[in-house]
Amino acid sequence: MWRLSVSIFLFSCLAVSSSSFGDSEATCSGIVPLRYRYDKISITEYGGVGDGRTVNTKAFRAAIYRIQHLKRRGGTLLYIPPGVYLTESFNLTSHMTLYLAKGAVIRAVQDTWNWPLIDPLPSYGRGRELPGGRYMSFIHGDGLRDVVITGQNGTIDGQGEVWWNMWHSRTLKYTRPNLIEFKDSKEIIISNVIFQNSPFWNIHPVYCSNVVIHHVTILAPQDSPNTDGIDPDSSYNVCIEDSYISTGDDLVAIKSGWDEYGIAYGRPSSNITIRRITGSSPFAGIAIGSETSGGIKNIVAEHITLSNMGVGVNIKTNIGRGGYIKNIKISDVYIDTAKYGIKITGDTGDHPDENYNPNALPIVKGIHIKNVWGVNVRNAGSIQGLKGSPFTGICLSEINLHGSLNSYKTWKCSDVIGTSLKVSPWPCSELRTTGGYNLCSSTF
Ligand SMILES: *[C@@H]1O[C@H](CO)[C@@H](O)[C@H](O)[C@H]1NC(C)=O
Ligand SMILES: *[C@@H]1O[C@H](CO)[C@@H](O)[C@H](O)[C@H]1NC(C)=O
Ligand SMILES: *[C@@H]1O[C@H](CO)[C@@H](O)[C@H](O)[C@H]1NC(C)=O
Repeated sequence: MWRLSVSIFLFSCLAVSSSSFGDSEATCSGIVPLRYRYDKISITEYGGVGDGRTVNTKAFRAAIYRIQHLKRRGGTLLYIPPGVYLTESFNLTSHMTLYLAKGAVIRAVQDTWNWPLIDPLPSYGRGRELPGGRYMSFIHGDGLRDVVITGQNGTIDGQGEVWWNMWHSRTLKYTRPNLIEFKDSKEIIISNVIFQNSPFWNIHPVYCSNVVIHHVTILAPQDSPNTDGIDPDSSYNVCIEDSYISTGDDLVAIKSGWDEYGIAYGRPSSNITIRRITGSSPFAGIAIGSETSGGIKNIVAEHITLSNMGVGVNIKTNIGRGGYIKNIKISDVYIDTAKYGIKITGDTGDHPDENYNPNALPIVKGIHIKNVWGVNVRNAGSIQGLKGSPFTGICLSEINLHGSLNSYKTWKCSDVIGTSLKVSPWPCSELRTTGGYNLCSSTF
């Protein structure tokens, strides 16, 4: 019975994606080919019970063990039928699709005392929140290739509240788990799934390449701590499109390691496209940093629609980070209500320990921000470079950021060199206004 429904669902899923390829909208989702899985199994064949009470850890581990060891040609689809499947964290394997039917929920247990620990990331040197190891992500992939998480908008639910409470009461022993992490992996597709209530960051591809995340919904309460939406970290060829994200922290934040550990590991984030994202957060819509020590370059973000934000676009780094942020192009951003429209700062975030090198100054150059329209924006913008390493090539064009009568109508700038064209309110003298000749847009 479920075999029949899988093929119907797959068919309608393909039909949806082909129609969106059919029009002229740009997409990068083709960088990972979608493979058809002839071999299909259901979690129920491995003892899975979707009653919301049974703990299904054994079923998930057994089903994935079977995929890993039988190695069927073309990989295997693991079907999760409608129902609520409570489970502890588990590892995925290569050449598999995790397919959540409409009404399927994979829900994390809340036994924080029993949660497996894994090593810190070498580019962070320790857990992001606390020294030492870190809790494994709820759904984890290490050293994998060709993995798809998709379906009919089923839900992956982290039940993060117990973790948020531990953060508030300072009773965490280690860094909270991400909802999904892929580490050292490639050819990953995540689509048509709802992610909710992650304990910490939602989707964290780290040391990965060729990752496509599209048509996802990511939800967490506005006051949930550090529930970033998608954090590509020391990864390249990443495509994030057509998604709705509303969380308690940055919607998309590109990172590449932390201070002396990130500098030593030296793994940049590059060639990342972010397109047609809608959402809301008390922090940033599109963020770069603040962990940028491996370098971040060649980033495009466009057609971003934000409401009730802390900051629309936020580029953030710090002394001790080293690395660079360069060739960043952000365009067509619409912001309805924000504390800040655009913020670029060199003094954000903490340090992993006291051994960071205060002389390791990041280089920030070639940031082009174009076509930003904001209403009800309290502070238009702030660009604060570093004395020893001014931010250069900062180019703003066609930007309109307006607020209510008593909002600040000026930009704050220091240690920055760049140009501006058609920016209102008028930015700052550091951003030389180009005459009739359109310097900014010629570089787009
Ligand atoms: C899951 O993967 C992690 C990290 O690779 C590993 O430490 C752990 O032992 C794995 N857990 C299981 C149950 O296989
Ligand atoms: C699933 O959610 C995505 C993102 O909101 C949406 O684009 C897509 O149409 C939905 N798909 C189905 C089958 O409901
Ligand atoms: C960069 O990513 C895009 C899609 O996001 C891809 O088409 C292109 O081939 C990538 N470039 C390189 C140099 O890998």
